[in-house]
Amino acid sequence: MQSKIIAIVNQKGGVGKTTTALNLGYALSQIGKKVLLIDFDPQGSLTVALGYKTDNKPGIQTLMTDAIEERETEEKCILEIKKNLNLIPANLQLAGIEMTLVNVMCKEQILKSVIEPIRRDFDYILIDCSPSLGTLTINALTACDSIIIPVTPEFLSAKGLGDLTSTIKKTKKRINPRIKVEGILITMLNERTNLSKEMLRAVNESAVYIKDKFDLDMKIFNNKIPASVRAGEAIKNRKSIIEYDPKNKVSKAYQCFAKELIAND
Ligand SMILES: Nc1ncnc2c1ncn2[C@@H]1O[C@H](COP(=O)(O)OP(=O)(O)O)[C@@H](O)[C@H]1O
Ligand SMILES: [Mg+2]
Repeated sequence: MQSKIIAIVNQKGGVGKTTTALNLGYALSQIGKKVLLIDFDPQGSLTVALGYKTDNKPGIQTLMTDAIEERETEEKCILEIKKNLNLIPANLQLAGIEMTLVNVMCKEQILKSVIEPIRRDFDYILIDCSPSLGTLTINALTACDSIIIPVTPEFLSAKGLGDLTSTIKKTKKRINPRIKVEGILITMLNERTNLSKEMLRAVNESAVYIKDKFDLDMKIFNNKIPASVRAGEAIKNRKSIIEYDPKNKVSKAYQCFAKELIAND
């Protein structure tokens, strides 16, 4: 199976990383792709959004610890959500692991060593990153083939994208030369306001700036995710919005986005 590992990254919180992991994963599974979602945020938002409790359950923290200590994992860490959609959950212990990693040899490679043996079982593995550029995120950048960067018009800043790009560039140069940026995904877009139009122009300008300064292609996906209160409601109901309100514009946008992403391959 030709599998693809995609990290969903932005060091800003609240830009739609978790919502994108959930709904993109759901949309890909509907098209018949075998999907594994990895919650890689100690907050466990993706785990909770899928209706699971985070406390004391085996998950990515278990797999990371066992990889660090070089032992086989005995617990079952992959949960089947529905046909073609699977989850490795996370809990707060993952934050402790980030501390432990400081003293581990090849600390950037641990997630990669967890994913490599199972990657052939899936078409897409989506990693929902935490809002930081710390060791966990570097692990995700090391394990992945490519990156999606969700950006809200309001949270856009050339500085923010610059810091992220610089981290991607360094990881690409020093650890993982195959990283590709799939693109920037604009989320929570309110198309009626002028502000958003201006912001959109700013995103386009930053993409050009990044190309010039870092020599890294960073296209903006054609499909943009509109803002809708239903997106938040769906998460509160522990469902993908595609299941909760299939006709909603956000549902349609994520389904179109899944197709655009597949066409990227
Ligand atoms: N398209 C959208 N429209 C409206 N609200 C959204 C949309 N996408 C996400 N949200 C809300 O924005 C908040 C942050 O989204 P989230 O996916 O958790 O971001 P992150 O993982 O980057 O912190 C959540 O409350 C979520 O419900
Ligand atoms: Mg999140």
